[in-house]
Amino acid sequence: MDKKFAGIILAAGEGTRMKSAIPKVLHPICGKPMLAYVLDLAKKLKLSKTLVVVGNKKELFKGLLDEYQAKAIYQDKRLGTADAVKRARGILKSFSGNILILYGDQPLLQAKTLKELMQKHLASCASATILTAAMEDPLGYGRIVRDNYARITEIVEDKDAANEQKNIKEVNTGIICFKKNGLFKAITRIRTDNAKREYYLTDAIKIMAGEGLVVESLCITVDPAQAQGINSRQDLAQAQKIMRLRILDKLIASGVSIVDPQATQIDYDCKIGPDSIIYPFTVIEKDVIIGKFCSIGPFCHLRPGTRVEDRAIIGNFTEVVRSRIGKDTLMKHFSYIGDAAVGKNVNIGCGTVTANFDGKNKQKTVIADSAFIGADTILRAPLKIGKKAVTGAGSVVTKEVKAGEVVAGVPARPLKFAPPKAGLI
Ligand code: UD1
Ligand code: CA
Repeated sequence: MDKKFAGIILAAGEGTRMKSAIPKVLHPICGKPMLAYVLDLAKKLKLSKTLVVVGNKKELFKGLLDEYQAKAIYQDKRLGTADAVKRARGILKSFSGNILILYGDQPLLQAKTLKELMQKHLASCASATILTAAMEDPLGYGRIVRDNYARITEIVEDKDAANEQKNIKEVNTGIICFKKNGLFKAITRIRTDNAKREYYLTDAIKIMAGEGLVVESLCITVDPAQAQGINSRQDLAQAQKIMRLRILDKLIASGVSIVDPQATQIDYDCKIGPDSIIYPFTVIEKDVIIGKFCSIGPFCHLRPGTRVEDRAIIGNFTEVVRSRIGKDTLMKHFSYIGDAAVGKNVNIGCGTVTANFDGKNKQKTVIADSAFIGADTILRAPLKIGKKAVTGAGSVVTKEVKAGEVVAGVPARPLKFAPPKAGLI
């Protein structure tokens, strides 16, 4: 199926209802731009080409599109969905397969649904196959109009629909497979004689049906919310909720305990090992990796670049960023660890802070295995704390502490006596 389809993702819309300086499709959902979810779909479907139609601020798309090896197509004026698709014509000159139209503002779509649509399109040899959905409240969507034999004759846009057509609950999700040649032939005949004075891609359906070409459809029955377009910040919050629960469900199914899914935020692409427990009011940002049998939270914030190894405990009111926390290490309360490599079996006392920012750069802290960091220690980076070293409560450590050494005070200095069993607590 793969090489038979090229994808065109429409993403040039202004997204005015978002009231934002950032293009709508670049707004993040669970740590990842909306458009990246659609690009992921294109990747999963192994489309032979992925073209993304962008409008204003096209420079903001470059990094993301490069990452996915997708090609940007520029639409200088928003003249409508048919005009957006027309812009891809040149690049697809030598391509003779099918086109899958996707929208950059539909991040909730599932690959399974699209595969089914593409298969139906190929199997039925249709000129167009529309993904439709039954919506309780179809307001704003294009309605699917059928004749007495249930054949699709046209899609009528909400603003152009006659009163009886407004009652139709089957809507166009926007996702349509087309035979390429038929599509571009029909597009040249599309005019702007409609309520929005735009070139509607949906008019291609009326043109094709009028010529007696086969127009098929697949109606989403499972989870119709997946076709929802994001137009406002309310929609964005709703999508965030759905995506968050999808991510949590997947983790739960893989053996992670999430004590209260309603009160837990875990971004896309985090990995958590089985038998780890995540307590409420915890935020785990993108790409964080957590091992097995760990305990995280409540009220814990793990930011990008964090890796927590097996059996570590990161307790309440804690933040970790760009750091590794070794096996069996305890960091149970009120601590900030940034830009640090913490070994195994370390005790990070309550209130420990890595002072990692010198005003210009982020500096590194290394804490070796079995070190004991006393409560309320400030570790001024760059800094190394040796194996089994100990810092006294309230220390401000500014210089390297050697293995087994015990320091205390402000600034911290080595203690003359060796405390009993230091570092083995
Ligand atoms: C469109 C469909 C409608 C469908 C609905 C589903 C048309 C005419 N209508 O309506 O049948 O029910 O989606 O959500 O296609 N875009 C561009 N360039 C443009 C205009 C739009 O790239 O000149 C992009 C937008 O960024 C967006 C997509 O195309 O991703 C859809 O455009 P939008 O204006 O939101 O269409 P709707 O009115 O929602
Ligand atoms: Ca829309």
